[in-house]
Amino acid sequence: MTQQTLIQKDSRPMIRVKKIAHAVYETPDLDKQTEYYTDVLGLNLIAKDKDASFLASLDHHSVVLRKGAAAQCVRLGFQIAPDADLNAFEKQTTAQGVKTKRLKDPEPTISDMVTFEDPKGTVMEVFTRPGGQNQSFPKKGIVPHKIGHVAFHCADVKLITKFYLDVLGFRESDWMGDFFSFLRCGVDHHTINLMGSGTNRHFHTAFELRDWGHMQTACDFLSLNGYKQLWGPGRHGIGHNLFAYHRSPNGLITELFAELDRMNEDLGYFEPRPWHRDRPQRPKVWAKDPNAANYWGLTPPEEMMK
Ligand SMILES: [Fe+2]
Repeated sequence: MTQQTLIQKDSRPMIRVKKIAHAVYETPDLDKQTEYYTDVLGLNLIAKDKDASFLASLDHHSVVLRKGAAAQCVRLGFQIAPDADLNAFEKQTTAQGVKTKRLKDPEPTISDMVTFEDPKGTVMEVFTRPGGQNQSFPKKGIVPHKIGHVAFHCADVKLITKFYLDVLGFRESDWMGDFFSFLRCGVDHHTINLMGSGTNRHFHTAFELRDWGHMQTACDFLSLNGYKQLWGPGRHGIGHNLFAYHRSPNGLITELFAELDRMNEDLGYFEPRPWHRDRPQRPKVWAKDPNAANYWGLTPPEEMMK
């Protein structure tokens, strides 16, 4: 496929989500997965009962673990602007033919929330959060900056991508061919990525590290704790981030990343970096080429798709 620039539909008047706040997972062994997030990834356990753990990086909770039969990502939390009208967002959502629910005080620090399902059944939780959450610096583990993105395998990638654009206000940052979309809701190149692979399921969840030095420390720390790299370290073509993937205890894949492209919306291109091949680097359709996956060489192993 020839590479083409993506037309940016920036003028749509709508209330857009601005940030991923948290992801919610079901997991069979709650204690083991909680220990991985606290002792290895370095999030703070700030609330726990027998069926749920709330884990913080910068927000009150960035990860919620709930006891469940299978390991899966079941919900995603997104913030709209602090001064945005949640009633108007709900109205805008139902006008798209999407059935919503309204929840009062559903989770710690969230007083009012609109929820609805995306086409693959993942529940969207949309809310406003007035200020910072003042989390303390974790005392152990890798300690990422934040949850950065969640990637999913999809049965119908075009339908689900359209939902994130039209209902939540995401923008297209890049596509690989016609089967892998990278969508942003802020300056970060992608917050959601969707890969058409025939089934609907979690692909990976990514946490942002400071830089290459932090990534080296993280890879050594993972190794010392018995976690081998699944793929990486490397540098993705799409998004241009440094990456390193490993599998968490419940089988779900975690990515650690740094140096992800950042969009300058007014200029319509990503902040220039020495490793870019396009100048400027604009949103586009990438060819399905090894460079799109990893400029440094190694292509993803079969194991990544399990
Ligand atoms: Fe990723």
